[in-house]
Amino acid sequence: MKITVVGSGFVGQTAAMRMLERNYADVVLIDIVEGKPQGIALDLKEAAPVEGYEPAIVGTNDYADTAGSDIVVITAGLPRKPGMSRMDLLGMNAGIMSDVIAKVTPGSPDAIVIVVSNPLDEMTFLAAESSGFPKERVLGMAGVLDSARLRYFIAEELGVSPNVVHAMTLGSHGDAMVALPRHATVDGKPLPELVDEAALERLFQRTRDGGAEIVALLKTGSAYYAPGSSVVAMVDAIVNDAKAVLPVCAWTTGQYGVSDVYLGVPARIGRGGVEEIVELDLNDGELAKLREAAEGIRAKCADLKQL
Ligand SMILES: NC(=O)c1ccc[n+]([C@@H]2O[C@H](COP(=O)([O-])OP(=O)(O)OC[C@H]3O[C@@H](n4cnc5c(N)ncnc54)[C@H](O)[C@@H]3O)[C@@H](O)[C@H]2O)c1
Repeated sequence: MKITVVGSGFVGQTAAMRMLERNYADVVLIDIVEGKPQGIALDLKEAAPVEGYEPAIVGTNDYADTAGSDIVVITAGLPRKPGMSRMDLLGMNAGIMSDVIAKVTPGSPDAIVIVVSNPLDEMTFLAAESSGFPKERVLGMAGVLDSARLRYFIAEELGVSPNVVHAMTLGSHGDAMVALPRHATVDGKPLPELVDEAALERLFQRTRDGGAEIVALLKTGSAYYAPGSSVVAMVDAIVNDAKAVLPVCAWTTGQYGVSDVYLGVPARIGRGGVEEIVELDLNDGELAKLREAAEGIRAKCADLKQL
């Protein structure tokens, strides 16, 4: 398989590294900055004898090298600075996304596109609209990351391994993230039986603010290790045709009473991209929050058309 990663910044290069270490696909790293993808690709090649991976890695500024990609991961765009919301990136990153889609899709018309650039839900919509690809082949990464953050915070709170914590977040990548306490378990026990209401809310709020917490610490740039891992979890499901159910930003067609908007929902991911949106048993309050998140994203996507 061939995977192109557009944007060889922190998230792009971390994702590329993890894909190479899995030994399942050749990787092309592309960026507008001359020398950057080439330098990172060379560095990754020099790690191959130590790590033992064999796939080819190409660093380039020429989209001809990306032709025939099975998967395109788009990380091109500006990250946040301290005090910025993801939405502050909308105008700048919309221009970059349109440019990238126009250049990368003609050579890879059958690719599955995974969007990472922020604001995530709106950039995924823009990528789908401007590519004209079937919506099941354009999806966004946010839910895997938000869920991983929540799982880690729960594990830290309870002093257990993150491996025994299961939790999922839906909705949008931002303040309208929908946490599902009734569906979260620790060692098989429902989370609400293990922590009180105040602790639950504190854990969810820290998850909502998880990206900003790291931006404030780093001062320049945003998180990239957990985002890189999260993208590659989605790539794994596609490459291995795993039919894994992951929270991803996917196009809704009536599920949860929501239609025609990209939204964070659990979806079965395989070689075809989003093969099915899985409908969890949500109560009225959870459904209301999910629909509110959907309407927030729909409104921002309408704003995109004014740009
Ligand atoms: N979805 C998520 O959960 C999530 C998580 C982390 C970061 N992000 C987002 O991912 C994006 C990348 O973050 P980062 O930390 O890697 O940033 P970064 O600044 O390290 O890298 C971005 C790269 O994009 C390149 N680029 C800019 N315009 C381009 C264009 N037109 N064509 C090709 N490449 C171009 C830049 O040269 C740079 O190398 C940001 O928008 C960030 O907010 C999303």
